Amino acid sequence: MQDIDLKQYIRGIPDFPKPGILFYDISTLLRNADAWQLATARMARAVGPWQPDQLAAIESRGFLTAAPLATRLGCGIVMLRKPGKLPGDTISLSYDLEYGTDSLHIQADAIKPGQRVVVTDDLLATGGTLAASVALLRKAGADVVGASVLIELTALGGRNKLDVPVHSLLSYE
Ligand code: PRP
Ligand code: MG
Repeated sequence: MQDIDLKQYIRGIPDFPKPGILFYDISTLLRNADAWQLATARMARAVGPWQPDQLAAIESRGFLTAAPLATRLGCGIVMLRKPGKLPGDTISLSYDLEYGTDSLHIQADAIKPGQRVVVTDDLLATGGTLAASVALLRKAGADVVGASVLIELTALGGRNKLDVPVHSLLSYE
């Protein structure tokens, strides 16, 4: 498996969720045990040198990348969740979508001041979600040392919205 191109496990589905959008579906990667193991091993190798104390997982598909990465790196996970999901005191941040706004929440005591945090998600597209996540983590006291995604859509320029190092395992124009 070592020199395998993992793109062969990801399929592009045209016109989803709306006409004109090519959706990169990771379901076919996730359901192949060997390919998913390899993907998470490669992501962990890139993230390891950042020496995170915690991985921040963005609901919902970011939970999929965070769990194996945290296990491989021996660090914890903090969840960045959609509204109404986290118990106790939370800190939130709203951000703009193409139509309307959304918000992410974190438990107020999730991060010890100055902890090194790497934020992870399945996909970097416009960068709005990751930029909001970095801002929210800083509000919660984190030292955000990097962002790790499985797929980056480079033509959308999302990484320009981020002021932390970004590692993407697979990129598409
Ligand atoms: C998708 C994807 C990323 C985000 C990327 O999440 O999983 O989180 O969009 O887009 P951006 O870079 O333009 O912000 P989505 O909100 O569709 O939901 P899900 O993870 O719950 O499926
Ligand atoms: Mg998502």
